[in-house]
Amino acid sequence: MLNRLTPVHLQWDNDRPRSLEYQDIYFSADDPRGEVETVFIDANELPARFRRARRFAIGETGFGTGLNFFLTLATWRRHARDGAFLSYLSAEAHPLAPADLQRALQAQGIPETDIASLLAQYPPAVSGLHRIYFPDDRVVLTLVYGDAAPEFARVRGTVDAWFLDGFAPSRNPALWNIAVFRQMARLSHAGTTLGTFTAAAQVRRDLTEAGFEVARVRGFGGKRERLMGRFRAAQDSLTEPVERVAVIGAGIAGLSTALALRNRGASVTVLDPQGVAARTSGNPAALLSPHLSAGDAMRNALALAGVRATRALLGSLRVDTAGGVLRAEGVEHQGITRHAARRLARLAAVDPQLAGNLYEVVRADPKRPTLRYPLGIGVDLGALCRQLAHDLQVRHRRVVAVHSDERGALLDYGDGTRDRFDATVIATGAGSPLCPGQPRPLHVGGQLTRIRCALPSIGRVARTGKGYCLPEHEGQHWLGATFRRDSAHSGIHDLDNIENLRQLRWADPALEAVERVTVSGAWYGTRAAFRDRLPAIGAILANPAAETTARRAAPQTSRVFVLLGLGSRGLLYAPLGAELIADRMFGLPEPLPEPLSERLSPLRFSARES
Ligand SMILES: Cc1cc2nc3c(=O)[nH]c(=O)nc-3n(C[C@H](O)[C@H](O)[C@H](O)COP(=O)(O)OP(=O)(O)OC[C@H]3O[C@@H](n4cnc5c(N)ncnc54)[C@H](O)[C@@H]3O)c2cc1C
Ligand SMILES: C[S@@+](CC[C@H](N)C(=O)[O-])C[C@H]1O[C@@H](n2cnc3c(N)ncnc32)[C@H](O)[C@@H]1O
Repeated sequence: MLNRLTPVHLQWDNDRPRSLEYQDIYFSADDPRGEVETVFIDANELPARFRRARRFAIGETGFGTGLNFFLTLATWRRHARDGAFLSYLSAEAHPLAPADLQRALQAQGIPETDIASLLAQYPPAVSGLHRIYFPDDRVVLTLVYGDAAPEFARVRGTVDAWFLDGFAPSRNPALWNIAVFRQMARLSHAGTTLGTFTAAAQVRRDLTEAGFEVARVRGFGGKRERLMGRFRAAQDSLTEPVERVAVIGAGIAGLSTALALRNRGASVTVLDPQGVAARTSGNPAALLSPHLSAGDAMRNALALAGVRATRALLGSLRVDTAGGVLRAEGVEHQGITRHAARRLARLAAVDPQLAGNLYEVVRADPKRPTLRYPLGIGVDLGALCRQLAHDLQVRHRRVVAVHSDERGALLDYGDGTRDRFDATVIATGAGSPLCPGQPRPLHVGGQLTRIRCALPSIGRVARTGKGYCLPEHEGQHWLGATFRRDSAHSGIHDLDNIENLRQLRWADPALEAVERVTVSGAWYGTRAAFRDRLPAIGAILANPAAETTARRAAPQTSRVFVLLGLGSRGLLYAPLGAELIADRMFGLPEPLPEPLSERLSPLRFSARES
């Protein structure tokens, strides 16, 4: 996870790239668009299948320039049903540099706006899964960076159609072997099809051995033959499809989940007695900053995916500093405490590329190391939630219990009424548990302080170290935050304002004289966190003692999900967690590799806590 990829070396022939390593071209020299249409799009009968599907997933071996992707996107725009969702998963071991990609795609007439969307979200060249969103089309592209066979082995979800598009098999055996095809088979279902430009005997043999039925058909252009195929499998067992989903809780977790589910065609009801962002997500000053570690590549992969998912969500809302949501662009982190200094110094000593360039080293001095997170931001989380909820239905209802059975979830409102849904997501933050199987996070209160005071040294980026401080907005700054584990201390306290001012003395000497700073406001909230400081994302058994043996053996098939325990990092984890839950619910390719999503599984807790 997060290994650096070997860059590609290209030679150009009339704006058509050729790989020097593989001594082969990326697409047909004569009619690239015609070849893609015939060999991949028509071979998989995509126009007709797009007209029928509510959700569709494509898998590709060899993203290359992205030409296949963009021509598929154009087909999707022409044929997809209203509200349908496309997930496109594509493996790539040697990504093109952005300028090369742009050159190749422009020459093929791909719309500038589409190229710009791809480039604006283009991932760093490190292995793992990286998402790029085309929200107006309800399309998500998941780039699987690294060698296809081992990387696909970590992907979870199913694919409806495959494009096999490596370089010629004789030159690129790593992409045309049984190990890759077995992974494709693992990700396929009855009805999954494939198309490819080659009919090489070894490819035919290995695809057949992996479980695909393949047929030779007339090749495109000068080629004699190519292959079309279908996965051989028994009909999928019929489970009730998910249509109606209840999301319990209208904070950042619940709202992001509701949007991700709605994007995938679910009919979503959000339930919260207090309305939108009335609890912890009412936070007026939250930072999006990655939680990085010099030694934990999985945590860094999670941080990278999290930051990218949140930035994409904000991008889809077209949030900018002019509106009320975004309060800082860029976060600077100083190693103020001894513990943080040690942690940041270790990070400063390793190559930032290994964490996907999530940070830059401003100062490496081990006594006071300083990192900058260029994708970090400061946000009025409450305002963001209100924007997310803009066209969602939020019902003001408290749920008192969640029950589950084979058909889905039953929500009990405690007044003698109940509602049945096909699935539910519990996103209740620090609320009381709704079923015995729900993991129970610890509660940690905390306060933010608003001051009316000029702090010119803060500038336009958010600063963090011991406490954090946002740039000036309407003549004021938000400072945060205290941590209170004692529930008797809940609510706003002068003491916490003083603590916030004191702990931020390093950021500006004006905060030194606490008595001369005008406190103009404060905000209190309760964080919910698990001991391992990771959120719980996935399915749970609502009532483990009462579940059937079959369900107990396969708890991941439960229709009760949780997105809980976001701790101090709701902005980092909620949008990504929402994508994970929504993809899992519909069996779509997921945004995180399986070892990482397993680390976040709510089933990781054996005892009640958590
Ligand atoms: C002082 C402080 C500073 C913080 N700073 C940051 C920061 O810098 N960056 C960052 O990313 N995060 C920060 N956080 C954390 C962040 O605010 C939270 O992680 C996030 O808001 C949690 O969102 P949530 O949706 O899980 O919970 P909530 O926002 O609490 O939402 C849960 C919702 O569920 C509803 N609910 C509860 N029970 C029921 C029920 N039975 N039926 C129906 N609805 C129910 C509640 O009414 C509530 O609206 C901070 C938190 C605090 C307290
Ligand atoms: C023919 S090109 C793909 C063309 C592409 N579909 C397009 O639309 O431009 C083959 C691609 O496979 C990639 N590749 C080669 N070996 C690989 C491997 N083992 N795993 C993943 N990708 C690989 C190459 O880097 C190259 O980008």
